Amino acid sequence: MADLREEIEKRRTFAIISHPDAGKTTLTEKFLLYGGAINLAGSVKGKATARHAVSDWMEIEKERGISVTSSVLQFNYDGYCINILDTPGHQDFSEDTYRTLMAADSAVMVIDASKGVEAQTRKLFKVCVMRHIPIFTFINKMDRDANDTFELLDDIEKELGIETCPINWPIGSGKDFKGVYDRNTKKVMTFSDTLKGTKEGEQKEIDIDDPALKEELGEDYWSQLMDEIELLDGASAEFDQDMVSKGELSPVFFGSALTNFGVETFLQHFLKMTYSPLPRNSDIGPIDPFSEDFSAFVFKIQANMNKAHRDRIAFMRICSGKFEAGMEVMHIQGGKKIRLAQPQQMMAQERHIVEEAYAGDIIGVFDPGIFSIGDTIETSAKPFRYEGIPTFAPEHFARVRQVDTMKRKQFVKGITQIAQEGAIQIFQEYHTGMEEIIVGVVGVLQFDVLKYRLENEYNVEIHMENLPYEHIRWIKNKELDLDKLTGTSDMKKIQDLKGNPLLLFINAWSVGMVLDRNEGLELEEFGRD
Ligand code: G4P
Repeated sequence: MADLREEIEKRRTFAIISHPDAGKTTLTEKFLLYGGAINLAGSVKGKATARHAVSDWMEIEKERGISVTSSVLQFNYDGYCINILDTPGHQDFSEDTYRTLMAADSAVMVIDASKGVEAQTRKLFKVCVMRHIPIFTFINKMDRDANDTFELLDDIEKELGIETCPINWPIGSGKDFKGVYDRNTKKVMTFSDTLKGTKEGEQKEIDIDDPALKEELGEDYWSQLMDEIELLDGASAEFDQDMVSKGELSPVFFGSALTNFGVETFLQHFLKMTYSPLPRNSDIGPIDPFSEDFSAFVFKIQANMNKAHRDRIAFMRICSGKFEAGMEVMHIQGGKKIRLAQPQQMMAQERHIVEEAYAGDIIGVFDPGIFSIGDTIETSAKPFRYEGIPTFAPEHFARVRQVDTMKRKQFVKGITQIAQEGAIQIFQEYHTGMEEIIVGVVGVLQFDVLKYRLENEYNVEIHMENLPYEHIRWIKNKELDLDKLTGTSDMKKIQDLKGNPLLLFINAWSVGMVLDRNEGLELEEFGRD
């Protein structure tokens, strides 16, 4: 099928990661602008989730539409079909963010030129490295005073342990930002303020050997540029597509998203340096994206987007073949054939029903409560499952029970559904079952969100008691008899809902101690299904 191949080949699916305020929303807006998906910049509302605390988050909850539209965006540009996965930058939403990265084929890292690598970027970056996906760096806000360019690159290399290869090079910054030098074409693109992107900039392209350049940049900037080019050509890593593809070398671009400078060049290079969806691993080996059989996995579940209907949407990343509305698929983990109802896709601002979608795309389908994160959906004759999505280690724990014992059923239903969405992880006391539930979260804000949602959506009041544990370990060798384990005084045995044993620790050093005391014991920081 020629058109299947053609459609999939033009797909590019990437996530944008950044520390809040680095300019992710602004950059996304400009991308959409180039794709003609929106007419006016300023209408993407990604940062709402990124920046605000509980109270605002709950407001956002009321208008779920907004946070959802910001989570996946699709637009066309220059013959490509681009899917952008937005990742909330707020540290308390990191669990969700981690998972979103599992659905992306590459990542764009936005860095504020005056700040360098910040905490949140570091965390997200680790996940990209774990997956060996290409990472592109956009150093933003060059129209403001920036750190030294060499230092910025050094920072990325040291902090993140990845080599960098500047594709272009900035000349000055802040009020003196003159433009960027493209190392490939050997041309300087001059900067002119576009008044926050509201007017067309007068950009000039000047050859590096053109005598007019000296005049344009001024003597000082010109000679500095010459020196830096020489230094750079001698010192920086050469561009190597293979290393980029493996996530070992990050192509770096400089620009100013707000003034729309360097954004289109970035997009063009990015599209050339990335690939359409690649085969993804399953329990029967890699699955060819061009296969005619449709397959996808669930990476995110969002509940109650419409309060009146109590609906849940499961977001799936299509990994092979073509999706057609109304098609019957096998839900592997549920062991049942189902029809995916109300498939939706996000096009900039609007959700709309999709008739067809291809490998690389993200669709949201109505979830009657059957899906969990990581589930595989497919149509091939030979059932398989995609590799599970790792469960990221929660760092905060609390014991939770319902205040009104009559509401036991709602409580269990609510907390289980919220856990299925992946916002929290739930555990039980070892051996004693569901009586009291231990909740683990990556960011403490999720505790408040849990309380709020149980009260508002399930009408259950809860009592929460914080536990002092900070470290969790999955036990790799499940056959081990947990009763015989020699622990430490700060260790607690628990189990997840599937009955897998886990250990909680207050102190990190106890982990090593328990390993020492129990020969053959293997502990893991990430859990996998
Ligand atoms: P985020 O999604 O990563 O959190 O960042 P966002 O795009 O919301 O940008 C954060 C702030 O930085 C915004 O200003 C935005 O206008 C500004 N900004 C983004 N890119 C650039 C740039 O290239 N140059 C300059 N000078 N500023 C940039 P704000 O005042 O917080 O918001 P707003 O009132 O402008 O919307």
